[in-house]
Amino acid sequence: PKYAIVNQDTCIACGNCEDVAPTIFELDEEGLAYVKVDQNEGVTPITEEKLEQLEEAQEECPTDSIIVAEQPFK
Ligand code: F3S
Repeated sequence: PKYAIVNQDTCIACGNCEDVAPTIFELDEEGLAYVKVDQNEGVTPITEEKLEQLEEAQEECPTDSIIVAEQPFK
């Protein structure tokens, strides 16, 4: 399985991730992105059907702020 988080320290609030993967990402009130499924904790696997979107979002993020791992982040 794949887990994802947004590094909000490097996210510049460009919004690309939400544009290409709205089922995974949302922008908070400051415009910074987070992973919706677990409030950016990185503990809930990204479901199979969303993996393509996840990859696309990673490619589209100008600051490489979308971090993906095969293990949960906590
Ligand atoms: Fe931020 Fe990258 Fe999304 S800069 S808003 S995480 S595309």
